Amino acid sequence: MLFDKTKPVVVLSWMVVLAVVLANVSVAYYDVDLIPGQHYPASEMKDVHALVRKYMRYSTAASSFVELDKGWRSCGLACNSPDVDDVMLNLTWRMDLPLSDGFIAVHPRDKEIVVAWAGTHRYRALLTDLAVFPRPYIAGTSMGVHSGFYDSVQGMNDRVGERLERLMVDHPDYMVIFTGHSKGGAEAALSALDLVRSIQGLRQRVRVWTFGEPRLGDAQFANFYNRQLGSVTYRVTSAADPVVAMPPRFLFEYCHHNQEIWLMNARGDVYVAQNNTECTEDPRASISIDFYDRSIMWHKNYLGLPPPDHAEAVFSW
Ligand SMILES: *[C@@H]1O[C@H](CO)[C@@H](O)[C@H](O)[C@H]1NC(C)=O
Ligand SMILES: *[C@@H]1O[C@H](CO)[C@@H](O)[C@H](O)[C@H]1NC(C)=O
Repeated sequence: MLFDKTKPVVVLSWMVVLAVVLANVSVAYYDVDLIPGQHYPASEMKDVHALVRKYMRYSTAASSFVELDKGWRSCGLACNSPDVDDVMLNLTWRMDLPLSDGFIAVHPRDKEIVVAWAGTHRYRALLTDLAVFPRPYIAGTSMGVHSGFYDSVQGMNDRVGERLERLMVDHPDYMVIFTGHSKGGAEAALSALDLVRSIQGLRQRVRVWTFGEPRLGDAQFANFYNRQLGSVTYRVTSAADPVVAMPPRFLFEYCHHNQEIWLMNARGDVYVAQNNTECTEDPRASISIDFYDRSIMWHKNYLGLPPPDHAEAVFSW
């Protein structure tokens, strides 16, 4: 008798516990509230670190040949986290000419549609990275963009855009996150820039999170990017990552776009770069590290996630 009476109470208290746990897990956020030019100790950066880890998981998944037929968990270790356990893949691609890989997924708990582009996880992708000769971003203008990344994105972006438009209609209250690591970061930024210009309403819902992104174009291109997306882009750089210093600035005057969030060390202290205008990168951010003091180890370490599964290239940039 006593048991029967307490049962609802027990159930109720468990529901309360569960609600509290769920409420904590499912904080849907996608922005960081940081002031350019400021340093932040790692201890104040818990939310920022959580976002870095979450979006890095998607970026790593894209570089792990995740496949629609096999489901989200085919990504391997990176998908094995409560942060991303209810993700539903909607489209995956693996293109050869021009080369690009990636996916679109829906994350109902965080109300996010994610477009992720893969890094250099195939040997042939090195050809994309090496195609540094700039081409005009828009015909008839002198804005220069990295040809390799440009071609990769052009090969797939119409299909990405079509699917994204449908998803945005079906999920009107979801944010749209473009993300990628390394080459994938450059492609994510470029893909977002193309699509905000063609998809109505995307500009109000988009965020771009890139990790270890190489330089993408020249000063005119960077300015154009900054006007369109600079204020909703987080270009995360890690300590002494050499890839973010490539291609070098002296080569075709390559520049970075805004807004750099520099993880200064393995602990995750943060420096938020001042806006980059006219190709002046904030000298107190990642550019302060001498090129010869950089190490590829930092390119793989964005707060220490597992490396991609099934990548072909031993280095998987
Ligand atoms: C992908 O999204 C579209 C638009 O919401 C939907 O119609 C389609 O069924 C989804 N496909 C998969 C495999 O989830
Ligand atoms: C430049 O920085 C200010 C804050 O200092 C911000 O409001 C503005 O959106 C930034 N511009 C771009 C293009 O990121």
